Amino acid sequence: MIRYVVSLLLLFVVIPIFSVESRLLIESPSKVTEFIHGSNSNDESVGTRWAVLIAGSSGYDNYRHQADVCHAYQILKKGGLKDENIIVFMYDDIAYSEYNPRPGVIINSPHGNDVYGGVPKDYTGNDVNVNNFFAVLLGNITGLTGGSEKVVNSGPNDHIFVYYTDHGGPGTLGMPSGEYLYANDLNDVLKKKHSLGTYKSLVFYIEACESGSIFEGLLSNELNIYATTASNAEESSYGTYCPGQYPSPPPEYDTCLGDLYSIAWLEDSDLHDLKTETLKQQYQLVKRRTLNENSYPGSHVMQYGDIELSSENLFTYMGTNPANDNYTTTSAKVNSLPLYNFLLPSFSRPVSQRDADIVHFWHKFQRAPEGSPEKLKVQKQYLDAMAHRKHIDRSMQLIGQHLFGSEKGPEVMNYVRPAGRPLVDDWSCLKTMVKTYEMHCGSFSRYGMKYTRSLANICNARVQTKEMAEASTKACANRVSPGSSSSLDQNGFMY
Ligand SMILES: *[C@@H]1O[C@H](CO)[C@@H](O)[C@H](O)[C@H]1NC(C)=O
Ligand SMILES: *[C@@H]1O[C@H](CO)[C@@H](O)[C@H](O)[C@H]1NC(C)=O
Repeated sequence: MIRYVVSLLLLFVVIPIFSVESRLLIESPSKVTEFIHGSNSNDESVGTRWAVLIAGSSGYDNYRHQADVCHAYQILKKGGLKDENIIVFMYDDIAYSEYNPRPGVIINSPHGNDVYGGVPKDYTGNDVNVNNFFAVLLGNITGLTGGSEKVVNSGPNDHIFVYYTDHGGPGTLGMPSGEYLYANDLNDVLKKKHSLGTYKSLVFYIEACESGSIFEGLLSNELNIYATTASNAEESSYGTYCPGQYPSPPPEYDTCLGDLYSIAWLEDSDLHDLKTETLKQQYQLVKRRTLNENSYPGSHVMQYGDIELSSENLFTYMGTNPANDNYTTTSAKVNSLPLYNFLLPSFSRPVSQRDADIVHFWHKFQRAPEGSPEKLKVQKQYLDAMAHRKHIDRSMQLIGQHLFGSEKGPEVMNYVRPAGRPLVDDWSCLKTMVKTYEMHCGSFSRYGMKYTRSLANICNARVQTKEMAEASTKACANRVSPGSSSSLDQNGFMY
């Protein structure tokens, strides 16, 4: 009681002095005590932990992305974060999909428990889009269109964790609705968030193909942001626990249950006392596991931004599950073989993000009874998907030839800039080129995202929009637009 009175007295003394902190003080009495007694506690006990989790896909063949996000939520929840501080973006078409063998349940590993229960449905369906993601991160309620209106209403002492998983392409990340997320826009939003002074530090994990390109040459090291990505700027990232792999999902699942990089950090965070594990140690463990060096190629996990932040404990962002108190992480363990083997079940060939849908259709096809309508339907889906890929590959090749000649075309289109340089100088040109292509040749879809580098190179070569439009018209003159019988919708996505 005496302590309480003293705290109150101090409160009145403190408010006029620390005007910046006053919002924080008034909002939350428990934080007042923390603040006042903060002199003998470390930084981590001050401020709130926030998290934004985004699955950028929809569709049962993309089961794994929403499974990753649900799993991440469970870790943060067990770690002690409150629902009011965890904002979840997921299309939410998996748990009750007609294809889900366990209705109402989502698993993220072959023997895993349900990870769907309790997940807040903040932004679902078409509310999972770039605009809402940016508005949520900036704490801008008026910028939202739909959803729970939960936003990152953070203060200067707060820590923010952002995790995104889906398909991507050079400089782009997918969203199940609306436009792609472009790397420059994301970095601008992060700069804006920093200038608002509404966080102490921010950690960003991204799983997607070419995810390094989201930060390569773009993320400043002066924003108190530390990021890791599943792959470098020019390679695929991989699904895991896929049909036909070891370990494989339960036999009734014909889809991948997780992604390689995501599973690596999620299963590491599941196990350990996160008060004793640093971001750097997790980066090292995840890098080794994602590289999949056992025999098949994986991807190269990268780190960007303020690398010094990686000496902080994961606890600062994820909290920790009290049940893991005795599972400490030491540098010796990070580098020791036994833990390494323990963390690395021997995967067989991982499935590239871009081929996971094909694997899904292939397994569905194999399982369907001979001569059944279902088998015919799956066969058609598979063939439509392959035809769509061929159309995209061929049209991009032709555009390169029309613009740069058949000799130089492939060279210009496939050129990769040296590390440290962003994909493109003029991002609005890249957006225009994507739109120009789509106007004449149809949707890029998820598969076509791998060609954003070619379009970026077209911009870097200072090709004008008019020339690009002419080349696209020629390349796609004979295109048969997908009719109503196609199993691809008008955006080139599979039903
Ligand atoms: C919030 O979003 C609205 C609508 O997009 C925009 O006009 C406004 O400038 C945004 N405010 C902030 C602080 O970002
Ligand atoms: C950790 O180990 C101590 C000492 O063996 C034990 O008393 C405690 O219950 C353990 N904590 C957990 C969460 O297992």
